[in-house]
Amino acid sequence: MMHVPAHKRLSLQSCLSRRVAQNRPLSGPLRSGRKGVRAVASNAAEVDVAPLFQPFKLPGGEELQNRMVYPPLTRCRALDTIPRPIMAEYYGQRACPGSLLICEATVVDRDGQGYPHVPGVFTREQVEAWKPIVKTVRDKGAVFFCQLWHSGRASHPVYQPDGKLPVSSSEEKIASEQWKNCYLGDGKMGEYPVPTALNKQGIKDKVQAFRVAARNAIEAGFNGVELHAANGYLIDQFTKDGVNKRTDEYGGSLENRCKFALEVVAAVVEEIGPERVGIRLSPFATFLDAIDSTPYATFVYLVEKLSATFPNMAYLHMVEPRADGHDILEDCPLSLTPFRKVWKGPFIVSGGYTRESGAAAVESGEADFVAYGRLWLSNPDLPLRFKQGAELNPYDRNTFYTHGKEGYIDYPFWEGAK
Ligand SMILES: Cc1cc2nc3c(=O)[nH]c(=O)nc-3n(C[C@H](O)[C@H](O)[C@H](O)COP(=O)(O)O)c2cc1C
Repeated sequence: MMHVPAHKRLSLQSCLSRRVAQNRPLSGPLRSGRKGVRAVASNAAEVDVAPLFQPFKLPGGEELQNRMVYPPLTRCRALDTIPRPIMAEYYGQRACPGSLLICEATVVDRDGQGYPHVPGVFTREQVEAWKPIVKTVRDKGAVFFCQLWHSGRASHPVYQPDGKLPVSSSEEKIASEQWKNCYLGDGKMGEYPVPTALNKQGIKDKVQAFRVAARNAIEAGFNGVELHAANGYLIDQFTKDGVNKRTDEYGGSLENRCKFALEVVAAVVEEIGPERVGIRLSPFATFLDAIDSTPYATFVYLVEKLSATFPNMAYLHMVEPRADGHDILEDCPLSLTPFRKVWKGPFIVSGGYTRESGAAAVESGEADFVAYGRLWLSNPDLPLRFKQGAELNPYDRNTFYTHGKEGYIDYPFWEGAK
């Protein structure tokens, strides 16, 4: 377990409180607002991007041709949790040979939904609907992982079977002014309720739900799954002490709080094999009020444990502490280095990376892969544009979570490629 010196604890405190004070989201579904900006330096073509185009073999044997990852991006284009054909076009536009794509957060259980029109992978109909989408991506030579998601307390009775309360680690609701409002669909908003704390059987059922969803994802044709243990959703609600107030063996000490995450990983690894399982963590995120008082200690422990217990996992995907939703904290003193040091497998970083900073992160060994969310969302041919130093399309936040074609499959490809 890592000792955090006093000066680091102070920095951490000021960084986190500044983020809360700024009233900005960190990651996960983000709010609408102004349009994004064009982002390529005038000397773009001169920057050495070769590090981003080195091959890499994943533990499962998949041969990747570049170090750019399309990270999970909720787009709310599935209809009542059933993936739609338009999603094949969307992902197909972004798939290229030897690239790693991770699909949007995909619900694992009937009570796991927390946003309108997000896909699931827990019914036969959902699995069948995923198949042609996954086939489109894999036929293009890309590797496709499915992000498995249970939103836990970040849900509302409108999404729950029989209108019951959502579940969590504890009866702690999302109460801050910043995060207390939830999307109910059709433009309606509500407030997150006090959730029900899962009992022991409930915890077992959720572990089983992740296991079955992983099996379903493989049946749908995905190469593997990414467990969504980040951004304040169910797994994170167990890990972080700002949410988890349990007094049984799933709460209290950091070892106890990490137990749920480790049980989910163990079940999914047993089901589909470690090389087909990745995990996403966000130790420093404040999104949905999920804050941990000792993020280095808690998450270094978790990463050490994962590395030692499941040595051949596909990858660890971590959200940068400086990533603050649509903005990037330039002077945040926190870093992912302690986690990189204890993780033995492939390491993906995410949050605010540009062409230049991504190439530098791979070149320096800080990361094996760099995820590009908003830039790839609005530039379906991002690897090609990076290679050529081409100008980028701006992204439009107003269409991130709408349900139609606009801002989804109509971002233009680079004209210079024609
Ligand atoms: C529209 C949108 C949807 C997102 N949905 C998810 C999601 O489903 N799962 C997740 O783990 N992160 C989600 N995120 C976070 C992104 O994966 C990524 O970490 C974030 O956009 C920061 O990376 P970037 O600066 O390259 O965009 C979402 C972000 C955006 C902008």
